[in-house]
Amino acid sequence: MTAADESQVRTRRPFGAYYRDPTIEDDAELTGVGRGTPGGEYLRRTWQPVCLCEEVGDLPLPVRMLGEDLVVFRTRAGVVGLLDRACSHRGTSLEYGLPSETGLVCCYHGWHFAPDGTILETPNDPDSTLKDRLCHPAYPTHERDGIIFAWMGPPDERPDFPVLDAYVQADTEIVPFALDFPCNWVQVLDNTQDPVHSCFLHTRVSGAQFSISWGEIPELEYIATPIGMINLNVRRWGDRIWVRTTDAMLPNLNQTGALWLTADREETFLGCALTRWMRPVDDTNTRMIGWRYFNAATDRERVGDKAAVGVGKIDFIGQTEDERPYAERQRVPGDFEAIAGQGPIAPAARWNLNRGDRGVTMLRRLIRENIRAVAEGRDYTVLERAAAPGGIVPTYTRDTVVTLPPGQGDDRALLREIAAEVWAAVRDGASLDGDRGSQFAAELDRIVRHHR
Ligand code: FES
Ligand SMILES: [Fe+2]
Repeated sequence: MTAADESQVRTRRPFGAYYRDPTIEDDAELTGVGRGTPGGEYLRRTWQPVCLCEEVGDLPLPVRMLGEDLVVFRTRAGVVGLLDRACSHRGTSLEYGLPSETGLVCCYHGWHFAPDGTILETPNDPDSTLKDRLCHPAYPTHERDGIIFAWMGPPDERPDFPVLDAYVQADTEIVPFALDFPCNWVQVLDNTQDPVHSCFLHTRVSGAQFSISWGEIPELEYIATPIGMINLNVRRWGDRIWVRTTDAMLPNLNQTGALWLTADREETFLGCALTRWMRPVDDTNTRMIGWRYFNAATDRERVGDKAAVGVGKIDFIGQTEDERPYAERQRVPGDFEAIAGQGPIAPAARWNLNRGDRGVTMLRRLIRENIRAVAEGRDYTVLERAAAPGGIVPTYTRDTVVTLPPGQGDDRALLREIAAEVWAAVRDGASLDGDRGSQFAAELDRIVRHHR
Protein backbone atom coordinates (compact mmCIF):
# COMPACT_ATOMS: atom_id res chain seq x y z
CA MET A 1 0.00 0.00 0.00
CA THR A 2 1.37 3.44 -0.92
CA ALA A 3 1.60 6.20 1.66
CA ALA A 4 -1.27 7.99 -0.06
CA ASP A 5 -3.47 4.86 0.07
CA GLU A 6 -2.59 4.43 3.71
CA SER A 7 -3.61 7.98 4.47
CA GLN A 8 -6.90 7.40 2.60
CA VAL A 9 -7.70 4.37 4.71
CA ARG A 10 -6.80 6.17 7.94
CA THR A 11 -9.00 9.17 7.22
CA ARG A 12 -11.99 6.89 6.60
CA ARG A 13 -12.06 5.70 10.18
CA PRO A 14 -14.41 7.18 12.80
CA PHE A 15 -12.69 9.72 15.05
CA GLY A 16 -9.95 9.93 12.42
CA ALA A 17 -9.54 13.72 12.31
CA TYR A 18 -5.94 13.42 13.47
CA TYR A 19 -4.99 11.73 10.20
CA ARG A 20 -6.35 14.20 7.69
CA ASP A 21 -3.92 15.74 5.24
CA PRO A 22 -2.73 19.13 6.54
CA THR A 23 -1.56 20.36 3.12
CA ILE A 24 -3.88 22.55 1.09
CA GLU A 25 -3.64 22.26 -2.65
CA ASP A 26 -4.48 25.52 -4.32
CA ASP A 27 -5.85 25.92 -7.81
CA ALA A 28 -4.30 29.21 -8.83
CA GLU A 29 -5.00 28.58 -12.51
CA LEU A 30 -8.73 28.82 -11.85
CA THR A 31 -8.86 31.27 -8.97
CA GLY A 32 -6.06 33.76 -9.70
CA VAL A 33 -7.27 37.20 -10.83
CA GLY A 34 -4.13 39.38 -10.93
CA ARG A 35 -2.45 40.96 -13.96
CA GLY A 36 -0.47 38.41 -15.93
CA THR A 37 -2.05 35.36 -14.29
CA PRO A 38 -3.98 32.98 -16.60
CA GLY A 39 -7.27 33.55 -14.77
CA GLY A 40 -6.68 37.29 -14.63
CA GLU A 41 -6.05 37.44 -18.37
CA TYR A 42 -9.34 35.68 -19.09
CA LEU A 43 -11.27 37.99 -16.74
CA ARG A 44 -9.73 40.95 -18.60
CA ARG A 45 -11.43 39.84 -21.85
CA THR A 46 -14.84 41.13 -20.76
CA TRP A 47 -16.25 44.44 -19.52
CA GLN A 48 -16.17 44.33 -15.71
CA PRO A 49 -18.32 46.43 -13.37
CA VAL A 50 -16.34 48.89 -11.25
CA CYS A 51 -18.93 50.40 -8.89
CA LEU A 52 -22.34 52.01 -8.85
CA CYS A 53 -22.56 55.50 -10.33
CA GLU A 54 -24.04 56.76 -7.05
CA GLU A 55 -20.75 55.93 -5.28
CA VAL A 56 -18.83 58.50 -7.29
CA GLY A 57 -19.78 62.00 -6.18
CA ASP A 58 -17.57 65.08 -6.26
CA LEU A 59 -14.66 63.11 -4.72
CA PRO A 60 -12.66 60.19 -6.16
CA LEU A 61 -13.47 56.65 -5.01
CA PRO A 62 -10.64 54.17 -4.38
CA VAL A 63 -11.50 50.78 -5.86
CA ARG A 64 -9.66 47.49 -5.88
CA MET A 65 -10.53 45.18 -8.75
CA LEU A 66 -8.81 42.15 -10.25
CA GLY A 67 -6.03 42.73 -7.74
CA GLU A 68 -5.32 46.31 -8.93
CA ASP A 69 -5.59 49.43 -6.80
CA LEU A 70 -7.39 52.05 -8.85
CA VAL A 71 -9.31 55.27 -8.39
CA VAL A 72 -12.53 56.18 -10.15
CA PHE A 73 -13.63 59.80 -10.40
CA ARG A 74 -15.86 62.11 -12.37
CA THR A 75 -14.52 65.35 -13.87
CA ARG A 76 -16.53 68.45 -13.09
CA ALA A 77 -17.75 68.20 -16.68
CA GLY A 78 -19.16 64.74 -15.87
CA VAL A 79 -16.67 62.44 -17.63
CA VAL A 80 -15.73 59.27 -15.70
CA GLY A 81 -12.07 58.29 -15.34
CA LEU A 82 -10.49 55.10 -13.98
CA LEU A 83 -6.81 55.52 -13.13
CA ASP A 84 -4.03 53.64 -11.37
CA ARG A 85 -4.32 54.86 -7.79
CA ALA A 86 -0.60 55.70 -7.39
CA CYS A 87 0.27 59.09 -8.92
CA SER A 88 2.80 58.80 -11.77
CA HIS A 89 4.98 61.43 -10.11
CA ARG A 90 5.85 60.05 -6.68
CA GLY A 91 3.04 57.66 -5.98
CA THR A 92 0.65 59.54 -3.72
CA SER A 93 -2.80 58.00 -3.72
CA LEU A 94 -5.07 59.74 -6.17
CA GLU A 95 -8.02 59.11 -3.82
CA TYR A 96 -6.80 62.44 -2.40
CA GLY A 97 -6.79 64.07 -5.83
CA LEU A 98 -9.31 66.77 -6.69
CA PRO A 99 -11.47 66.58 -9.81
CA SER A 100 -11.06 69.46 -12.23
CA GLU A 101 -13.11 70.43 -15.27
CA THR A 102 -10.99 68.12 -17.45
CA GLY A 103 -9.37 65.59 -15.11
CA LEU A 104 -7.96 64.85 -11.67
CA VAL A 105 -5.31 66.94 -9.86
CA CYS A 106 -2.92 65.12 -7.52
CA CYS A 107 -2.88 66.71 -4.07
CA TYR A 108 0.89 66.48 -3.56
CA HIS A 109 2.47 68.52 -6.40
CA GLY A 110 -0.48 69.23 -8.65
CA TRP A 111 0.10 66.84 -11.53
CA HIS A 112 -3.08 66.87 -13.59
CA PHE A 113 -4.41 63.74 -15.31
CA ALA A 114 -7.12 63.41 -17.98
CA PRO A 115 -9.54 60.41 -17.81
CA ASP A 116 -7.56 58.66 -20.56
CA GLY A 117 -4.30 59.04 -18.60
CA THR A 118 -2.90 61.97 -20.59
CA ILE A 119 -0.78 64.15 -18.30
CA LEU A 120 -2.15 67.63 -18.78
CA GLU A 121 0.22 69.54 -16.48
CA THR A 122 3.22 69.03 -14.21
CA PRO A 123 3.09 72.39 -12.41
CA ASN A 124 5.98 71.60 -10.04
CA ASP A 125 8.21 71.79 -13.20
CA PRO A 126 6.14 73.39 -15.99
CA ASP A 127 8.90 73.08 -18.59
CA SER A 128 9.45 69.35 -18.04
CA THR A 129 8.77 67.24 -21.13
CA LEU A 130 7.75 64.27 -18.97
CA LYS A 131 4.10 64.90 -19.71
CA ASP A 132 4.72 64.44 -23.44
CA ARG A 133 6.67 61.24 -22.91
CA LEU A 134 4.44 59.54 -20.32
CA CYS A 135 0.85 58.53 -19.89
CA HIS A 136 -0.65 57.68 -16.52
CA PRO A 137 -2.14 54.12 -16.49
CA ALA A 138 -5.87 54.44 -17.29
CA TYR A 139 -8.73 52.16 -18.35
CA PRO A 140 -11.70 53.01 -20.58
CA THR A 141 -15.13 53.08 -18.92
CA HIS A 142 -18.77 52.77 -19.89
CA GLU A 143 -21.87 53.72 -17.92
CA ARG A 144 -25.22 51.98 -18.08
CA ASP A 145 -28.25 52.04 -15.77
CA GLY A 146 -26.36 53.18 -12.69
CA ILE A 147 -23.23 51.02 -13.05
CA ILE A 148 -19.75 52.08 -14.21
CA PHE A 149 -17.94 49.39 -16.21
CA ALA A 150 -14.28 49.14 -17.27
CA TRP A 151 -12.39 47.41 -20.04
CA MET A 152 -9.15 46.19 -18.44
CA GLY A 153 -7.95 44.06 -21.35
CA PRO A 154 -5.66 44.90 -24.28
CA PRO A 155 -6.83 48.32 -25.54
CA ASP A 156 -6.80 47.25 -29.17
CA GLU A 157 -9.14 44.34 -28.43
CA ARG A 158 -11.82 46.42 -26.73
CA PRO A 159 -15.27 45.26 -27.90
CA ASP A 160 -18.52 47.21 -27.77
CA PHE A 161 -20.28 46.96 -24.43
CA PRO A 162 -22.62 43.96 -24.86
CA VAL A 163 -26.33 44.51 -24.29
CA LEU A 164 -28.28 41.48 -23.06
CA ASP A 165 -31.96 40.92 -23.77
CA ALA A 166 -32.49 41.04 -20.00
CA TYR A 167 -31.50 44.73 -19.91
CA VAL A 168 -34.38 45.64 -22.20
CA GLN A 169 -37.25 43.64 -20.65
CA ALA A 170 -40.61 45.35 -21.16
CA ASP A 171 -42.12 47.53 -18.42
CA THR A 172 -39.20 46.94 -16.10
CA GLU A 173 -37.51 49.15 -13.56
CA ILE A 174 -33.79 48.49 -13.20
CA VAL A 175 -32.06 49.05 -9.85
CA PRO A 176 -28.28 48.48 -9.42
CA PHE A 177 -26.72 46.85 -6.37
CA ALA A 178 -23.30 45.88 -4.98
CA LEU A 179 -22.61 43.22 -2.34
CA ASP A 180 -19.30 42.14 -0.81
CA PHE A 181 -18.20 38.52 -0.37
CA PRO A 182 -14.94 37.78 1.53
CA CYS A 183 -13.93 34.96 -0.82
CA ASN A 184 -12.79 34.05 -4.31
CA TRP A 185 -15.19 34.77 -7.19
CA VAL A 186 -15.41 31.21 -8.59
CA GLN A 187 -17.22 29.80 -5.56
CA VAL A 188 -19.73 32.66 -5.74
CA LEU A 189 -20.51 31.74 -9.36
CA ASP A 190 -20.56 28.00 -8.46
CA ASN A 191 -23.65 28.69 -6.37
CA THR A 192 -25.61 29.66 -9.50
CA GLN A 193 -25.08 26.25 -11.11
CA ASP A 194 -25.94 24.37 -7.92
CA PRO A 195 -29.75 24.46 -8.00
CA VAL A 196 -29.95 21.60 -5.49
CA HIS A 197 -28.82 24.01 -2.78
CA SER A 198 -32.19 25.76 -3.09
CA CYS A 199 -33.95 22.62 -1.84
CA PHE A 200 -31.78 22.49 1.26
CA LEU A 201 -30.23 25.86 2.16
CA HIS A 202 -33.29 27.85 1.11
CA THR A 203 -36.05 25.44 2.09
CA ARG A 204 -35.57 22.14 3.94
CA VAL A 205 -32.73 22.85 6.36
CA SER A 206 -33.87 26.04 8.05
CA GLY A 207 -37.31 26.83 6.66
CA ALA A 208 -38.63 28.26 3.39
CA GLN A 209 -36.72 31.44 2.54
CA PHE A 210 -38.46 31.93 -0.83
CA SER A 211 -41.35 29.50 -1.24
CA ILE A 212 -42.08 25.96 -0.10
CA SER A 213 -42.18 24.59 -3.65
CA TRP A 214 -38.40 25.19 -3.88
CA GLY A 215 -37.95 22.22 -1.55
CA GLU A 216 -39.08 19.70 -4.18
CA ILE A 217 -36.03 17.89 -5.55
CA PRO A 218 -35.94 18.64 -9.28
CA GLU A 219 -34.83 16.61 -12.26
CA LEU A 220 -31.67 18.31 -13.46
CA GLU A 221 -29.78 18.81 -16.67
CA TYR A 222 -26.77 21.03 -17.42
CA ILE A 223 -26.40 22.34 -20.96
CA ALA A 224 -23.77 24.44 -22.74
CA THR A 225 -24.96 27.65 -24.43
CA PRO A 226 -23.16 30.04 -26.80
CA ILE A 227 -22.45 32.27 -23.76
CA GLY A 228 -21.70 29.65 -21.09
CA MET A 229 -24.15 27.16 -19.61
CA ILE A 230 -27.56 26.79 -18.03
CA ASN A 231 -29.02 24.49 -15.48
CA LEU A 232 -32.41 23.17 -16.49
CA ASN A 233 -34.45 22.09 -13.52
CA VAL A 234 -37.99 20.74 -13.48
CA ARG A 235 -40.22 20.03 -10.48
CA ARG A 236 -43.61 18.50 -9.88
CA TRP A 237 -45.86 20.71 -7.71
CA GLY A 238 -49.35 19.24 -7.39
CA ASP A 239 -50.92 19.25 -10.83
CA ARG A 240 -48.26 21.61 -12.12
CA ILE A 241 -44.84 21.19 -13.66
CA TRP A 242 -42.34 23.99 -13.17
CA VAL A 243 -39.41 24.30 -15.57
CA ARG A 244 -36.66 26.75 -14.67
CA THR A 245 -33.42 27.69 -16.44
CA THR A 246 -30.57 29.70 -14.93
CA ASP A 247 -27.67 31.18 -16.90
CA ALA A 248 -24.02 31.21 -15.97
CA MET A 249 -22.46 33.51 -18.56
CA LEU A 250 -18.74 33.47 -19.12
CA PRO A 251 -16.57 34.48 -17.61
CA ASN A 252 -18.24 35.72 -14.42
CA LEU A 253 -21.95 36.50 -14.70
CA ASN A 254 -25.22 34.93 -13.70
CA GLN A 255 -28.89 35.57 -14.33
CA THR A 256 -31.55 34.25 -11.99
CA GLY A 257 -35.29 33.94 -12.61
CA ALA A 258 -38.26 35.09 -10.56
CA LEU A 259 -37.30 35.03 -6.88
CA TRP A 260 -40.57 34.20 -5.14
CA LEU A 261 -42.19 32.01 -7.74
CA THR A 262 -44.54 29.48 -6.12
CA ALA A 263 -45.57 27.34 -9.12
CA ASP A 264 -49.17 27.73 -7.87
CA ARG A 265 -50.25 29.22 -11.19
CA GLU A 266 -49.29 28.86 -14.82
CA GLU A 267 -46.44 31.01 -16.11
CA THR A 268 -45.12 31.45 -19.62
CA PHE A 269 -41.40 31.95 -20.13
CA LEU A 270 -40.94 34.59 -17.43
CA GLY A 271 -37.76 36.64 -17.72
CA CYS A 272 -35.11 37.16 -15.06
CA ALA A 273 -35.10 39.00 -11.75
CA LEU A 274 -31.40 39.83 -11.72
CA THR A 275 -28.16 39.96 -13.67
CA ARG A 276 -24.98 39.97 -11.57
CA TRP A 277 -21.25 39.91 -12.06
CA MET A 278 -19.03 38.11 -9.55
CA ARG A 279 -16.40 40.79 -9.97
CA PRO A 280 -13.13 39.95 -8.24
CA VAL A 281 -11.63 42.46 -5.84
CA ASP A 282 -8.61 40.18 -5.52
CA ASP A 283 -8.05 36.44 -5.09
CA THR A 284 -9.91 36.31 -1.77
CA ASN A 285 -12.59 38.98 -2.11
CA THR A 286 -15.44 39.49 -4.54
CA ARG A 287 -17.80 42.35 -5.15
CA MET A 288 -21.04 41.13 -6.64
CA ILE A 289 -22.40 43.97 -8.78
CA GLY A 290 -25.56 43.80 -10.81
CA TRP A 291 -29.11 44.87 -11.54
CA ARG A 292 -32.39 43.85 -9.90
CA TYR A 293 -35.28 43.98 -12.36
CA PHE A 294 -38.68 44.97 -11.06
CA ASN A 295 -41.73 44.12 -13.13
CA ALA A 296 -45.19 42.66 -12.61
CA ALA A 297 -44.45 39.51 -14.60
CA THR A 298 -41.67 38.16 -12.36
CA ASP A 299 -43.18 39.47 -9.11
CA ARG A 300 -46.98 39.36 -9.22
CA GLU A 301 -47.37 39.68 -5.45
CA ARG A 302 -45.02 42.67 -5.36
CA VAL A 303 -42.77 41.15 -2.69
CA GLY A 304 -39.71 42.95 -4.09
CA ASP A 305 -38.59 46.21 -2.49
CA LYS A 306 -36.66 48.74 -4.57
CA ALA A 307 -35.74 50.76 -1.49
CA ALA A 308 -33.87 47.73 -0.11
CA VAL A 309 -31.60 47.42 -3.18
CA GLY A 310 -28.33 49.34 -3.50
CA VAL A 311 -24.80 49.55 -2.08
CA GLY A 312 -24.43 46.70 0.44
CA LYS A 313 -28.06 45.64 0.32
CA ILE A 314 -30.61 43.66 -1.67
CA ASP A 315 -34.24 42.79 -1.09
CA PHE A 316 -33.92 39.07 -0.36
CA ILE A 317 -32.53 37.15 2.56
CA GLY A 318 -28.99 35.95 3.20
CA GLN A 319 -26.82 37.96 0.80
CA THR A 320 -24.65 40.06 3.14
CA GLU A 321 -22.66 39.72 6.32
CA ASP A 322 -24.17 42.59 8.25
CA GLU A 323 -27.84 42.42 7.42
CA ARG A 324 -28.58 40.13 10.41
CA PRO A 325 -27.03 39.25 13.82
CA TYR A 326 -24.56 36.35 13.77
CA ALA A 327 -26.77 33.97 15.79
CA GLU A 328 -29.62 34.53 13.38
CA ARG A 329 -27.31 33.88 10.42
CA GLN A 330 -26.37 30.61 12.13
CA ARG A 331 -30.01 29.61 12.63
CA VAL A 332 -31.18 30.65 9.17
CA PRO A 333 -28.09 30.77 6.97
CA GLY A 334 -28.35 32.08 3.42
CA ASP A 335 -26.18 32.15 0.30
CA PHE A 336 -23.66 34.48 1.96
CA GLU A 337 -23.01 32.10 4.84
CA ALA A 338 -22.84 29.02 2.60
CA ILE A 339 -20.51 30.62 0.05
CA ALA A 340 -18.19 32.60 2.33
CA GLY A 341 -18.25 29.60 4.68
CA GLN A 342 -16.34 27.58 2.06
CA GLY A 343 -13.25 29.62 2.95
CA PRO A 344 -11.37 32.54 1.34
CA ILE A 345 -10.47 30.30 -1.62
CA ALA A 346 -12.58 27.15 -1.46
CA PRO A 347 -10.11 24.21 -1.41
CA ALA A 348 -11.88 22.25 -4.14
CA ALA A 349 -9.23 19.53 -4.13
CA ARG A 350 -10.61 18.47 -0.74
CA TRP A 351 -14.23 18.37 -1.78
CA ASN A 352 -16.12 15.10 -2.25
CA LEU A 353 -18.32 15.76 -5.26
CA ASN A 354 -21.33 13.67 -6.21
CA ARG A 355 -24.03 13.74 -8.89
CA GLY A 356 -25.67 16.67 -7.14
CA ASP A 357 -22.62 18.75 -8.11
CA ARG A 358 -22.57 18.18 -11.86
CA GLY A 359 -23.28 21.84 -12.56
CA VAL A 360 -20.35 23.04 -10.47
CA THR A 361 -18.05 20.51 -12.12
CA MET A 362 -19.16 21.61 -15.60
CA LEU A 363 -18.89 25.31 -14.81
CA ARG A 364 -15.36 24.94 -13.45
CA ARG A 365 -14.37 22.90 -16.49
CA LEU A 366 -15.73 25.60 -18.83
CA ILE A 367 -13.89 28.37 -16.99
CA ARG A 368 -10.65 26.38 -17.00
CA GLU A 369 -10.90 25.53 -20.70
CA ASN A 370 -11.39 29.19 -21.56
CA ILE A 371 -8.55 30.34 -19.32
CA ARG A 372 -6.28 27.94 -21.24
CA ALA A 373 -7.70 29.04 -24.60
CA VAL A 374 -6.84 32.68 -23.85
CA ALA A 375 -3.36 31.69 -22.66
CA GLU A 376 -2.71 29.66 -25.81
CA GLY A 377 -4.18 32.21 -28.21
CA ARG A 378 -7.11 29.99 -29.17
CA ASP A 379 -10.75 30.96 -29.61
CA TYR A 380 -12.60 31.45 -26.32
CA THR A 381 -16.08 32.22 -25.00
CA VAL A 382 -17.06 35.53 -23.45
CA LEU A 383 -20.34 37.37 -23.51
CA GLU A 384 -18.99 40.00 -25.90
CA ARG A 385 -18.37 37.43 -28.62
CA ALA A 386 -22.03 36.35 -28.71
CA ALA A 387 -23.30 39.77 -29.78
CA ALA A 388 -23.80 40.68 -33.39
CA PRO A 389 -22.35 44.18 -33.93
CA GLY A 390 -24.78 46.61 -32.34
CA GLY A 391 -27.09 43.70 -31.52
CA ILE A 392 -28.57 42.26 -28.39
CA VAL A 393 -27.19 39.10 -26.79
CA PRO A 394 -29.84 36.40 -26.31
CA THR A 395 -29.87 34.81 -22.84
CA TYR A 396 -31.67 31.78 -21.46
CA THR A 397 -33.04 32.43 -17.96
CA ARG A 398 -36.76 31.56 -17.98
CA ASP A 399 -39.49 30.16 -15.75
CA THR A 400 -42.45 28.24 -17.10
CA VAL A 401 -45.24 26.52 -15.16
CA VAL A 402 -47.77 24.30 -16.94
CA THR A 403 -50.77 22.32 -15.68
CA LEU A 404 -50.24 18.66 -16.41
CA PRO A 405 -51.34 16.23 -13.66
CA PRO A 406 -49.36 13.01 -13.15
CA GLY A 407 -50.51 10.32 -15.59
CA GLN A 408 -50.31 6.54 -15.34
CA GLY A 409 -46.66 6.35 -16.44
CA ASP A 410 -43.32 7.36 -14.94
CA ASP A 411 -43.83 10.93 -13.74
CA ARG A 412 -40.12 11.73 -13.47
CA ALA A 413 -39.77 10.72 -17.12
CA LEU A 414 -42.66 13.04 -18.00
CA LEU A 415 -40.94 15.89 -16.13
CA ARG A 416 -37.74 15.32 -18.09
CA GLU A 417 -39.63 15.22 -21.38
CA ILE A 418 -41.48 18.47 -20.68
CA ALA A 419 -38.23 20.10 -19.54
CA ALA A 420 -36.46 19.09 -22.74
CA GLU A 421 -39.25 20.52 -24.90
CA VAL A 422 -39.52 23.75 -22.93
CA TRP A 423 -35.74 24.13 -23.10
CA ALA A 424 -35.81 23.66 -26.88
CA ALA A 425 -38.39 26.45 -27.12
CA VAL A 426 -36.35 28.72 -24.83
CA ARG A 427 -33.15 28.03 -26.76
CA ASP A 428 -34.71 28.59 -30.17
CA GLY A 429 -36.83 31.46 -28.98
CA ALA A 430 -34.01 33.31 -27.30
CA SER A 431 -32.82 34.81 -30.54
CA LEU A 432 -36.26 35.65 -31.92
CA ASP A 433 -36.96 39.30 -32.50
CA GLY A 434 -40.19 41.14 -31.90
CA ASP A 435 -43.02 39.84 -29.79
CA ARG A 436 -41.42 36.74 -28.34
CA GLY A 437 -44.09 36.30 -25.69
CA SER A 438 -46.85 35.24 -28.05
CA GLN A 439 -44.53 32.94 -30.00
CA PHE A 440 -43.48 31.26 -26.75
CA ALA A 441 -47.10 30.93 -25.62
CA ALA A 442 -48.09 29.21 -28.87
CA GLU A 443 -45.18 26.81 -28.53
CA LEU A 444 -46.06 26.05 -24.93
CA ASP A 445 -49.64 25.36 -25.86
CA ARG A 446 -48.46 22.85 -28.45
CA ILE A 447 -46.18 21.11 -25.89
CA VAL A 448 -48.89 20.72 -23.24
CA ARG A 449 -51.54 19.57 -25.70
CA HIS A 450 -49.18 16.94 -27.02
CA HIS A 451 -48.79 15.44 -23.53
CA ARG A 452 -52.43 15.60 -22.35
S1 FES B 1 3.01 62.61 -6.07
FE1 FES B 1 1.40 63.28 -7.31
S2 FES B 1 2.08 65.18 -8.05
FE2 FES B 1 3.70 64.50 -6.83
FE1 LIG C 1 -29.12 30.51 -3.25
